[in-house]
Formats: sequence, structure tokens, C-alpha cells
Amino acid sequence: MQCEAIVAKHFVEVGTLVQQAEWKGISDQYAAFAADEARGSSEAYEKLALAVSQFDDLLEFIATLPVERRQPNLFLAAVRHVCGIARNVDDLRQFVHTSQGQIREVMLSRTTQTNEPARCAVLLPLLAQLAQPLALIEVGASAGLCLLMDHYGYDYGNARIEPAVSDDGHAPVFTCEVSGKVPIPNAIPRIAWRAGLDLNPIDLRSERDAAWLETLVWPGQDARVARLHAAINIARRNPPNVIRGDLLTDLAQLVATAPNDTTVVVFHTAVLGYVAPQSAREQFAATVKKTGAEWISNEAPGVFPSIARKAPPSPARGRFLISWNGAPVAWAGPHGQSLDWFGTT
Ligand SMILES: C[S@@+](CC[C@H](N)C(=O)[O-])C[C@H]1O[C@@H](n2cnc3c(N)ncnc32)[C@H](O)[C@@H]1O
Repeated sequence: MQCEAIVAKHFVEVGTLVQQAEWKGISDQYAAFAADEARGSSEAYEKLALAVSQFDDLLEFIATLPVERRQPNLFLAAVRHVCGIARNVDDLRQFVHTSQGQIREVMLSRTTQTNEPARCAVLLPLLAQLAQPLALIEVGASAGLCLLMDHYGYDYGNARIEPAVSDDGHAPVFTCEVSGKVPIPNAIPRIAWRAGLDLNPIDLRSERDAAWLETLVWPGQDARVARLHAAINIARRNPPNVIRGDLLTDLAQLVATAPNDTTVVVFHTAVLGYVAPQSAREQFAATVKKTGAEWISNEAPGVFPSIARKAPPSPARGRFLISWNGAPVAWAGPHGQSLDWFGTT
């Protein structure tokens, strides 16, 4: 064989190996999503994510996207946004085959900004411990639905809390299973001022943005969709002030605008996982500390390993860790559905 032919063959072989390694990585990512995240939460997504991990045409499509745009959540939501719910693997492959341009466009232009107002249920007990009234600042607020916590009702099993602000009986009620000595408040804390910060605030006046938020709720989670609808309607009547900005650079300025005579609280839920590397998260924590604000974090435990090390073992996989000024106090269901309190607060 001539020298050029050998070199060309070598390049083809190396290219194939690189491609196989890339597809294997994507396949593992989707299989892990199916087993660890979708199982038990959405049968449809479990099945579809597993299919992606097994079919070359689906892996090939996902491999055409930049690495940071390949998440299962984003792909499955984009397919649904463009084509509707795939009932089975054949549907999914057909949708990707016929609409890959549009699906790619959604995956490149949107991010997973799921806004889950039910997470307010796990924040409320801590907020109620603080001197009132509160000035709330949520970083990574998405559409700002978690800033409207006084518009919602809460059911903690042995205690029910009515909304502080009436919305004609249309307020969603968030059910939260509790264990441990949860300091369940008698009433919703008084909120004097509120503001959000997000890289890309969702504008609920836009039907497209609202539709995207709904698409991010997994199929089969109808109760979540109904509550999201109710919260969106409340937010349309009471638009939260969510400013475009980066929590790494724009927080101190926002804190400075909070009114005097309030307890300023900086909180975040399901956000810091998107901020990397770890030193950037630590930098954010140091900034909050410097502002003197109270700091409430509701994140996956891996987000701040040094805080997680001080917590007792989680009662179940997938729980978020709630911490207050860097001290862990409770494990929380990722969608606000449970609260296991171990703090001494
Ligand atoms: C998964 S959503 C969570 C929304 C809301 N906190 C909740 O729990 O419903 C994460 C949000 O964080 C925002 N985000 C990610 N990195 C950010 C940053 N560096 N600065 C501000 N917002 C950020 C994203 O745009 C997105 O809206």
C-alpha cells in the first residue's frame, strides 16, 4: 500500500474511534438520566432517554450539538416543543429525522430554565425564622415564580397555610411532606420588596416563553403543570421584577438597591449546578457573605461539597440540600415535595 493511502486509512480509523468514544459518552449520559432521574418521575422520559442511548441515528444527531447543549432534559423538551410528545421510540426517531433543523434550533437557543414554584414550600420555614419584613433576592430566578411565595398556599400535612395575598381563590396549594422538627410557620413571612436576577429572564407575557416553561415539565406530571399554570397566571397579574444579569458579577449592585429596615435575603434553588468551576461557586458565596445578606441555598449536595460534608446522610437519592449561611439544615425534595429537617433552628 502506498504511503498516502496508509496515512489516509489511519486518519479514517482514528476518526472512527473518536466518533465511537463520543457516541458512547452520550449514550452513557442518556442511560444514566433514564435510570437516575427519569425513573419513578416520568415513564415516558425514561423510555425515550433509554432509546437515545441505544440508537445510532439519535446519538449521531445529538453529537452534532455542542457538548453543553446535549443534556437529555434539553433534547427531550426541544423535541416535544417542536413535534409534540413522542409516544414511543419510533415516534422519536421519526420526529428527529423529519424536524432535526427545528429541534437543533431550539436546543441552541433555549436552556433548561424549569421554574418550579412548589420549591417555595421548602424555603418558607427558614424565611419565617428571620426578622420581618423581608427583602427577597432570588438569583437564577427564571420567570420569578419563586419570588411570589406569598401568593401561594401550602399544605404540610398537619399544618396548612393560606396565601397572604388573595388571588380570587385561584392560588395553587403546594403539598410538602415533612419529617423532623421543621419550624413550620403559622403564616407566610412579610415580604416588603423582591427582585430576581437571571442570565436570561423568562418573560411570561410571551406565549412562546410560557409554552417553553410548560414543556420543561416532564410528561405525566400533570399536577405540576396545573400548579405551574396557576402560578403563571398569578405572575402575569403581579409581574415579578427579574433583572437580566449574572449572579457572579451583578449581585452586590442589586443587594444595594434593597430598602433599609428589611432583612435582605439572597436565595437560590437549582441554579448553582449551572455555575462552574467550583471556585466560581465559592466566589459567589463569598460575595453574598460580603453583602451581609442572609443566604439560603437549595441545591444538589454536590454543589457545595464542604457544606454537604456537615449534613447527615440524605434519606433518598436526588434530594437537594438546604443550607442557611453555609450551615446545612434540611434535605428537600428537588421539586419542593418533601422536607426532612435536621437543623437546630
Ligand atoms: C433550573 S432554573 C431554576 C429556576 C428557579 N430558581 C427555580 O428553582 O424554579 C436555573 C436558572 O438559573 C439561571 N442561571 C444559570 N446561571 C446563572 C448565572 N450565572 N447568573 C444568573 N442566572 C443564572 C438560568 O438562566 C435559569 O433560569
